[in-house]
Amino acid sequence: LAVHLVSFLFSKVQEEPNKEVDRFLQAMRLGDEQLKDISSLFLAEMKKGLSAESNAAAVVKMLPTHVRSTPDGSEKGQFLALDLGGSRFKVLCVKVREGKGVRRGRVEMHEKIFPIPQELLEGKGAELFDHVSESLKDFVHENNINMEKKHPLAFTFSFPCEQSSLGQGLLLDWSKNFHVRGVRGKDVVQALREAIDRTGGIDVDVLALVNDTVATMMTCGLDDQHCEVGLIVGTGTNACYMEELRHIDLVEGDEGRMCVNTEWGAFGEDGTLKDYITEFDREVDAASNNPGKQIFEKMVSGMYLGELVRLVLLKMAKLGLLFDGCVSSALRTRGKISTADVAAMEEYRNGLKNTRVILKALGLTPSPEDCVAVQHISTTVSLRSSNLVAAGLVAVLTRIKENRRLRTFRVTVGVDGSVYRTHPQYPKRLHGAVRRLLPECQVRFVVSERGSSRGAALVTAVAQRRVSLRQK
Ligand code: GLC
Repeated sequence: LAVHLVSFLFSKVQEEPNKEVDRFLQAMRLGDEQLKDISSLFLAEMKKGLSAESNAAAVVKMLPTHVRSTPDGSEKGQFLALDLGGSRFKVLCVKVREGKGVRRGRVEMHEKIFPIPQELLEGKGAELFDHVSESLKDFVHENNINMEKKHPLAFTFSFPCEQSSLGQGLLLDWSKNFHVRGVRGKDVVQALREAIDRTGGIDVDVLALVNDTVATMMTCGLDDQHCEVGLIVGTGTNACYMEELRHIDLVEGDEGRMCVNTEWGAFGEDGTLKDYITEFDREVDAASNNPGKQIFEKMVSGMYLGELVRLVLLKMAKLGLLFDGCVSSALRTRGKISTADVAAMEEYRNGLKNTRVILKALGLTPSPEDCVAVQHISTTVSLRSSNLVAAGLVAVLTRIKENRRLRTFRVTVGVDGSVYRTHPQYPKRLHGAVRRLLPECQVRFVVSERGSSRGAALVTAVAQRRVSLRQK
């Protein structure tokens, strides 16, 4: 009896702060009806972006990628590749052998990560591209890559680009932590070529400019012919999918399909998500280097999740709902809680222990109830993120379903990105929500391991095949 009484009292003690936390976080909790509403709003935005009349004013750009098919196994060759815009800048050498299956060793690669100094992320475009091309030169030398013949190069560039062909793209805007001057509106492939010329000593042919979502879809497509969607939940978030060419007004032709880069991170820039935006989202946006932009991305992606949690904790501490009302200077400082912290706080076994360690490192003295409440806050923020991604994905899948006039269908989504890969519960929650919201669709999710780098080489292989066919 005594044990029961103690555990009853303890549960009461835990319940009270949790209830207050609950009330506080209400605005961040999205039920299925709300998710369905968000999904329909996004579907309408997709239509706007695809149509010639509304594209110019559309917030969700639905960019044609000029990738016409997923891999068929005939792609081959050796390519240099650059991967810029994810959490790390990488230079790679990728070998693609004929045949199906990434997992069966058909795509081999080695890579080197080159750190980008902070000042280059906020400096002049030419300086950033010089750093990129100098890193490429170092890589070529370190790996004794024979430069006697011209090397084809694949460029994964994870920002929105308006492409009139595969080998070119005008940068519409920077996002995430990039805020570089003098590149917006310019062809980034041209900027890269010019930098390579300035650097000298390397002879490459930049054949394809590829968004990370597209590369991810292509990599996964080598193993699974149902893969028609690419999804990134990392530093940023975005998705691409195979659309019927007849619906893409900006590209001529009616036959077949083309991959469309939705650039869904921008969803909400015109106020469409106003009913779902919280005061914390507004704060994150106002303090970012692109206020008013990438609203959906700021509610979802790795660059902002930790910051959202920090802002909630700060507000609650100030109101005396956490830490006995104590606020440390670290808790007041932007960026002091990372998305990795959020993931650690939600670990299955060690979550609570990790939460205590993280809070202590922030100079706080949390009680056991504080730790439970903070863990709960982390869960609310990351669950909202996976739910929002599910809502977006459901719109994309509904679009594919409607295009093909199907009642049920099978599809595979290739996924990459640090949040999806490292948050312990994220994939399960995302899969669950998509299946709940769209039961008629059999969705398979496949992690496209380092898909953003491998996939660009696949796209380039197709491009190169076309070039050599034309030359024959
Ligand atoms: C940002 C970029 C987008 C990219 C995504 C994931 O949203 O605008 O192009 O795909 O981040 O890296």
